[in-house]
Amino acid sequence: MSVRHPANMAAAADRHDLYQRAVQDVEAEIDFVLETWGELRARAAITLREDFCGTANTSCEWVRRDPAHRAFAIDLDAAVLEWGQAHNVAALDADQRARIELVHGDVLDPPAREADIVVAMNFSYFLFRTRAQLGAYFRRARSALAEDGILFLDAYGGYDAPREIEERRDCDGFSYVWDQVSFNPIDSCMRCEIHFEFPDGSRLPGAFRYHWRLWTLPEIRELLLEAGFQSADVYWEGTDPETNEGDGIYTRSEVGDADPGWICYVVACS
Ligand SMILES: C[S@@+](CC[C@H](N)C(=O)[O-])C[C@H]1O[C@@H](n2cnc3c(N)ncnc32)[C@H](O)[C@@H]1O
Repeated sequence: MSVRHPANMAAAADRHDLYQRAVQDVEAEIDFVLETWGELRARAAITLREDFCGTANTSCEWVRRDPAHRAFAIDLDAAVLEWGQAHNVAALDADQRARIELVHGDVLDPPAREADIVVAMNFSYFLFRTRAQLGAYFRRARSALAEDGILFLDAYGGYDAPREIEERRDCDGFSYVWDQVSFNPIDSCMRCEIHFEFPDGSRLPGAFRYHWRLWTLPEIRELLLEAGFQSADVYWEGTDPETNEGDGIYTRSEVGDADPGWICYVVACS
């Protein structure tokens, strides 16, 4: 006999929708990409490749921005691509839909076509846990780029990053919990999870799980240069003097603050 569980908010929730609302800010991401491209290149960027795309949210924002823009978004997981197609791509207009393609594939596969921009956001490349693997990915990303193409990554760190701690943040109608479950100082690898919690007390534990290496910025920059990129620059977030919090403005920097937790962009020119 099957037991009927009482309906609760967690059972009714969609983890991809919660993830997009809690974690992603694709408008700000594409603002940064367009502004930085404009500072570094004299021509417009047309084609963006989104690696580890998940629901392809960033690619959708790219094609919405300009009628010339094209995007292709790559992920290994067919189920997350289906979700992105049904929810994000389907919400585009017909012209935008004609300029985006979701690709079920491996970012390490030889690239099928060239892109002006490759983006790999939300630290997805941290899943490569050896120098050999991360170097191979950077070489692949470079080979996917046009001669003057640019790779955009984000990175995170700070003295709280290797700690086994949870961080809770209120979102609209739920709480987002970032759980640094374990960290091994010997190989710098960590297990992290995202949980969602709801006002009725229900939870979605382990909605997303990651096994990452916590890479440092010098390691990432060195590997990018070894992979053949001409430059690998860090864009560090400024501080709002009134709140003492990040101001959302990222500028090329060689010196950052020793904050407990920071997020920055890494921009590598082909
Ligand atoms: C952190 S999630 C996606 C994050 C998303 N890019 C964002 O900005 O929020 C990582 C994704 O990478 C995908 N993935 C893992 N290894 C991959 C690979 N070798 N090639 C393509 N996708 C991969 C997973 O299926 C998962 O959807």
